[in-house]
Amino acid sequence: MAKLAHAQWSSRMTFVLAAAGSAVGLGNIWRFSYMVGDSGGAAFVLVYLACVALVGLPILVAEWMIGRRGQKNPINTMAELAANHGKSPAWALVGISGVLAAFLILSFYSVIGGWSLNYTLSAVIGTFNGQDADGINALFGNMLGSPITLLLWHTAFMVLVVGIVARGVTKGLESAARLMMPALIVLMLVLVGYGMASGYFGEALAFMFRPDWSALTGGVVLAAMGQAFFTLSLGMGIMMAYGSYLGEDVNLISTARTVIILDTVIALLAGLAIFPIVFANGLSPGEGPGLIFVTLPLAFGNMTGGAILALMFFLLLTFAALTSAISLLEPVVETLEERSPMSRTVATLVSGIAVWLLGVAALLSFNVWSDVLFFGLNIFDLLDTFTSKILLPLTGLGAIVFFATCLDKEESRKELKMDVYDYSLWNFIAKYLAPLAVITVFVTGLI
Ligand code: PHE
Ligand code: NA
Repeated sequence: MAKLAHAQWSSRMTFVLAAAGSAVGLGNIWRFSYMVGDSGGAAFVLVYLACVALVGLPILVAEWMIGRRGQKNPINTMAELAANHGKSPAWALVGISGVLAAFLILSFYSVIGGWSLNYTLSAVIGTFNGQDADGINALFGNMLGSPITLLLWHTAFMVLVVGIVARGVTKGLESAARLMMPALIVLMLVLVGYGMASGYFGEALAFMFRPDWSALTGGVVLAAMGQAFFTLSLGMGIMMAYGSYLGEDVNLISTARTVIILDTVIALLAGLAIFPIVFANGLSPGEGPGLIFVTLPLAFGNMTGGAILALMFFLLLTFAALTSAISLLEPVVETLEERSPMSRTVATLVSGIAVWLLGVAALLSFNVWSDVLFFGLNIFDLLDTFTSKILLPLTGLGAIVFFATCLDKEESRKELKMDVYDYSLWNFIAKYLAPLAVITVFVTGLI
């Protein structure tokens, strides 16, 4: 990306689509619903929403602004802006930990992308038709239990990602997102409608929105904040890289609001589609990473037109996962390309293979390596936990602190097109509230 002549996004719309393509993915549907189920529901959801608004929005804007100023990849941008403002070159660490996070996340993201690909094929051949909860559970269990199956689909997903990045056709995907995003929303609405007819919608609503605050531990709050970072693609330098393509005229706050609302709506719809099925079938909300794969196929298998809906759903999910995965591979490839003599193609292959290898370790933790634990977590959970609960918040914190303390206030105010009053509120949030919130959540969550 950094080596292009930095042609600026032709319009705000193109930019929104690219940012939304990165943001909207497995995080909204797969990860959101399983985290909500695991963490006991509404308290998690409400903290997550608060984090998205109070921490996610300012950090998103900060990352874009830093990227727009720096006009380089995240590591160089941070290093150079720091140098220009007489600050320590150590700020480049923010960029480095972002690239590391992207690398680690893609490894397990691809495993789940593989599940989605696998289920797309299952939908085509009608595997879900007429299955009861036990049947659907067995399907999922068999997939998890087979290292070969998981390996095959993880590999297929990575081949797609590497192929797309190597050929540099990501722009085409972004314009396809113009159709896919609304289609995904419509499909989620249909599923929510199905949930409403199930007789268990009220229960699902209460589960998601009537909090039992006594269940709120430091761990749940940290998980909610981690989810906010993950779903908005924050703390990875990705949004920073995108920011370097932003024209001066684009209003950052309103653009951030658009992307965030889109991302949040899709996540909430996913929850409202999945939990009625959970309760109607006596399944456990705390099922874990398999939650969407043991609930939605059950609904598809037993509704009229379910076969076609299943196919559409898993296709769209795979597509959303692909656009996010591409945005995860990009910074890794770029870094490698810049810091080594490798060509883009070679750099893409090398990063793809490295990510793939780590993904193999992650997928083995569902079967043969399920006993291999670090800090009580298997490899998959370890990768997920370390990135979303530690790396992302720290990198995001670095970005916002850099923004708030190193960049010129008056310039920032003009760039955000704010009057003095609005800006002082913004400054309070960006300089004190958001960093303090991240630090507090971080510290209480870890102890
Ligand atoms: N935000 C994406 C999702 O919700 C995942 C992702 C994380 C993509 C980080 C890029 C960077 O699925
Ligand atoms: Na997301």
